[in-house]
Amino acid sequence: MHIDIITLFPEIFEILICHSIVKRALEKGVASIEVHNLRDYATNRYKSVDDYPYGGGSGMVMMIEPIDRCIEALRMKRNVDEVIYLTPDGELLEQPMVNRLSMLENIILLCGHYKGVDERVRESLITLEISIGDYVLSGGELPAMVFCDSVIRLLPGVLGDETSALSDSFQDGLLAPPVYTRPSTYKGMTVPDVLLSGNEKEIARWNYEQALERTVKKRPRLLGS
Ligand code: ADE
Repeated sequence: MHIDIITLFPEIFEILICHSIVKRALEKGVASIEVHNLRDYATNRYKSVDDYPYGGGSGMVMMIEPIDRCIEALRMKRNVDEVIYLTPDGELLEQPMVNRLSMLENIILLCGHYKGVDERVRESLITLEISIGDYVLSGGELPAMVFCDSVIRLLPGVLGDETSALSDSFQDGLLAPPVYTRPSTYKGMTVPDVLLSGNEKEIARWNYEQALERTVKKRPRLLGS
């Protein structure tokens, strides 16, 4: 998978690229990320990327021309599957969408800032709009990083244990069951006996019951109620 990120703040993505699971995926060649500074596509001598909104009002609006030029340059290089705009009014990013998008080859992410982008960008250049939750962040960079982490960790060979993404919360429509590690007793708190029993069938049943109980309690809507 290749992800092109278009942003006014490229340095923010160093955190994503230089750490943990995403770093491992990039090193293994399973995924690649290129960060593009939108200012490099500005056309006037001031390198403007934003302007005042028509009709007045506070804040600045990101201009269509640099965005169009950047996306066009990327489309010349590769077959782009989706051009995604991160915005609070987009479709909510949930595990089924993450799973679906992790199958794609080439994705462009556009990070908004200020008051957002000229509406014509959304109408003519964007193929999918994604929100990471019903709250407003100061830009699309953190949501873009959330998106990259969520899809890249699903790519084959990224997680050490091949089954570990399958046992994530949400993957089977349930939250994950509780987990424990050594010591088996800590300050009087013990690990459920069944987990120490070595009986795989009983452990699997316990995990399922716990996952169900947790889902009923914390995310009943996943069960359709
Ligand atoms: N940009 C600002 N807030 C956002 C959010 N919640 N999701 C996606 N993009 C955003």
